[in-house]
Amino acid sequence: MAAERTLTILKPDCVRKNLVGEVTKRIQDAGFKILAMKMTRLTKDTAGGFYAVHKERPFFGELVEFMSSGPCVPMVLEKENAIADFRELIGATNPAEADEGTIRADFADSVGENIVHGSDSVENGKIEAAYFFAESDIVANQA
Ligand code: RTP
Ligand code: MG
Repeated sequence: MAAERTLTILKPDCVRKNLVGEVTKRIQDAGFKILAMKMTRLTKDTAGGFYAVHKERPFFGELVEFMSSGPCVPMVLEKENAIADFRELIGATNPAEADEGTIRADFADSVGENIVHGSDSVENGKIEAAYFFAESDIVANQA
């Protein structure tokens, strides 16, 4: 199977709860290689642009408020089957429905504040990575 890339964001609740180290360790222990990462704070505009696919949904306003409420940590990750494996590692969107041992089951408080984002396809992962990182920020050669 070929290596894939996914874009994650450790969301503002993850940063506020001092869980960046713990969640990053779980990601690395699961075999994901970090190719790029930074701490940044989204504006309402950049948060809304990132989640533009949801702009007609009733929760969009809350989502934008939350994602711009404090710093977050986007990362580009690489692994075989990264898209599906990452979504398995984080668990269902609603932590109440997430499998035991997943990041959202263990750390998230609610569907709105669910600790991490994960891309839902290879194509969207590329678009999302480009939203935060220039090609030159992505350290693919880690020998
Ligand atoms: P994400 O994009 O953040 O990785 O989450 P996801 O794929 O598991 O879920 P998605 O359907 O893409 O929804 C994006 C984010 O919107 C918030 N949400 N709130 N109140 C609600 O019913 C509701 N539904 C979704 C969540 O924070 C979700 O992560
Ligand atoms: Mg999504």
